[in-house]
Amino acid sequence: MSTASTSLLEVDNLSLEFRTRSGIVRALENVSLELPAGGSLGLVGESGSGKSVLSFAVLGIQDAAARVTNGTIRFAGQDLLANDGAAMKALRGRELAMIFQNPRVALNPIRQVGKQIEDVLARHTDLRGKALRARAIECLAEVRIPDPERRYIAYPFELSGGMCQRVMIAIALACRPRLLIADEPTTGLDVTTQAAIMRLIRDLGHEKGMATLLITHDLGLAREFCDRIAVMHAGHIVETAPTEDLFLASAHPYTAQLIRATPVGQDKLENLAAIPGNLPDLRRTDLPACRFSERCARRQEQCGRPLVLRDLAAQHRIACHYPLLENKEAFDAPAA
Ligand SMILES: Nc1ncnc2c1ncn2[C@@H]1O[C@H](COP(=O)(O)OP(=O)(O)OP(=O)(O)O)[C@@H](O)[C@H]1O
Ligand code: SF4
Ligand SMILES: [Mg+2]
Repeated sequence: MSTASTSLLEVDNLSLEFRTRSGIVRALENVSLELPAGGSLGLVGESGSGKSVLSFAVLGIQDAAARVTNGTIRFAGQDLLANDGAAMKALRGRELAMIFQNPRVALNPIRQVGKQIEDVLARHTDLRGKALRARAIECLAEVRIPDPERRYIAYPFELSGGMCQRVMIAIALACRPRLLIADEPTTGLDVTTQAAIMRLIRDLGHEKGMATLLITHDLGLAREFCDRIAVMHAGHIVETAPTEDLFLASAHPYTAQLIRATPVGQDKLENLAAIPGNLPDLRRTDLPACRFSERCARRQEQCGRPLVLRDLAAQHRIACHYPLLENKEAFDAPAA
């Protein structure tokens, strides 16, 4: 294990399964990814590929049926899997924060939004009384909510979906976390509000030096807002690269199909009719080493061999025995 790493978040060979009545769901297998302090990583893949399971594992929020069977999760040098529930609870909201897809569900409907920000601040800081209220109002202002004193006393139902998402972001950022996990943060919002929320997350990330893990179906969104992208398929990371390298020189057949299925600026992965086949059933006991192999036009006999995420070029990693190298000159280009 590298001790000299500069990564804020380092997931190394993480495997996680769910024991269910209908069998063991092998939801994550040997997943590795890194996120430097202040960086942004887009985690993309079809529905059911394991994006949320991975983010919940990082946050230490797990279903009773979940078991980590291998690997480590390190955050700022700390081994998160060695932490007990109380230690993880203390980290969540303070150092690690998350925003979810549906802010109206995540917010308490019968509590004023300002009070909900105060709850988080009171849990993690010594602020009380007037200072607590002043900081909560400041948090609302930071996420560019107009007239924050008035909005402080509003209930979620009195605010639009975009405003509720801003409140969620205010709650998430109240204690200045070092990592924000945003799981489909703009789904359900109109296009203009979507763009405004994403810009806000990016700008606040830059202002506060906060790292962001953006989980999305939308490759176009990840391209616009992330430094790097990791592509997930059926519980595996199949490719990870700096964003533009991924688009210019995708080497995994699945990534190439995702990119073809997602015209820039237009579509989302929600309607992936263009990618043939489905994710394999993760309860199968005969899952192939390459979980994409049953959908892959490039499959060869050798594809059944064990597969690991390996370096293809500087910062470009892939899990495939026969990567697409049509754009190989992009890999060979000297580093800027
Ligand atoms: N509590 C659970 N018990 C059993 N299986 C689960 C559980 N939670 C998730 N899974 C399975 O783990 C796999 C990954 O699910 P996950 O929710 O992480 O997908 P996702 O990539 O976030 O999808 P989406 O884009 O739809 O949010 C799926 O096969 C899912 O059915
Ligand atoms: S390892 Fe083989 S089957 Fe899997 S993606 Fe690569 S070429 Fe296709
Ligand atoms: Mg999900």
